[in-house]
Amino acid sequence: MNAKQRAQELFERHYGALPEGVAAAPGRVNLIGDHTDYVGGFVFPAALRLNTAIAYRRSAESNRVCAVSEALADKVDFGLRQEGVSGWGGYLAGIAWALLEAGFELSGLELAVASDVPTASGLSSSAALEVAMARAWRTVDELELDDVNLAKLCQRAENAYVGVPSGILDQFASSVPAVGQAIILDCRSLDYQVIAIPADWTFVIVDSGASRQLAGSAYEQRVKECAEVARQLHLRALRDLQAEQLLKLDGDLLKRARHVYGENQRVLEAASAMKAADIVAFGRLMSASHASLRDNYEVSSPTLDRLVEAALAFEGCYGARLTGAGFGGSTVQLLKRGSEDAFGAYLEERVPSARLVARI
Ligand code: GLA
Repeated sequence: MNAKQRAQELFERHYGALPEGVAAAPGRVNLIGDHTDYVGGFVFPAALRLNTAIAYRRSAESNRVCAVSEALADKVDFGLRQEGVSGWGGYLAGIAWALLEAGFELSGLELAVASDVPTASGLSSSAALEVAMARAWRTVDELELDDVNLAKLCQRAENAYVGVPSGILDQFASSVPAVGQAIILDCRSLDYQVIAIPADWTFVIVDSGASRQLAGSAYEQRVKECAEVARQLHLRALRDLQAEQLLKLDGDLLKRARHVYGENQRVLEAASAMKAADIVAFGRLMSASHASLRDNYEVSSPTLDRLVEAALAFEGCYGARLTGAGFGGSTVQLLKRGSEDAFGAYLEERVPSARLVARI
């Protein structure tokens, strides 16, 4: 059973009635362009075929939300305007907060949640939950909210309510429908283009088994370092950095700026490589991105490095990199279609904690 069916079944079991509907949203993999979104740069994600689903119906108590999840024992129950809800309910309460703050009127809801997106794996399970929640309210209360603005509100919920200073990458990739395709996004203007992944390419996503949590990690520190470089160089954001300005920096700030500068270039080159179906060029850019995340941005881990190294030693693997924030989580590999199973078996033998979780 997929997540939608399981959410529906959980709803019926828990509330003893049919839901009004089921909203869903996917997790994402970022093919290239990490730690560039919160500096207004470029990212290149693709939505996964793994969804988080929320079965819903209007509640008799108009100002309350209650929710159960198939994976988490704790039930959630909060008032629509309640501040400081923590745990997984914080993502739901954050969406209510952001929608109310934007002037929408919301109904109280009863919810049941099921998900196929692995948690703490760098595949945006939290953005999928946020976007599915916002979609449920969009349908129930007939909100005039397009997919891009919905993503912006979800990001606002994550920043201001949950308290993680993330960029818009995850929520955008989950909200703008392009399953099976890639999206190149300018995180400043939010202009984007959907690019078809060449039919004979496959991106394989491997969970390293080393889980990560964004809140409280070094993520926030990197966001601050980028802001500090922009402040020192009088830039609106690090995205505006010119190559010659690197000479004015040193130490860790130079390394962070080098990554952001190079990564933005790589995303643009990667978009050209995908349009030209140049698998060798795309794969090289992915591997260069990993090296920069490891050496300049310092967000990799020994397990991720080992995985990437082992993946690249597989004949027929064109590129490999960590995906998302890093500090554990998942890697993404580029292969020719047809070699996924051999690759999965090869990798799991070399890195036993690794698990092939998705392919595009
Ligand atoms: C996390 C954040 C995103 C982005 C990536 C790194 O997934 O939520 O906004 O910054 O890390 O690219």
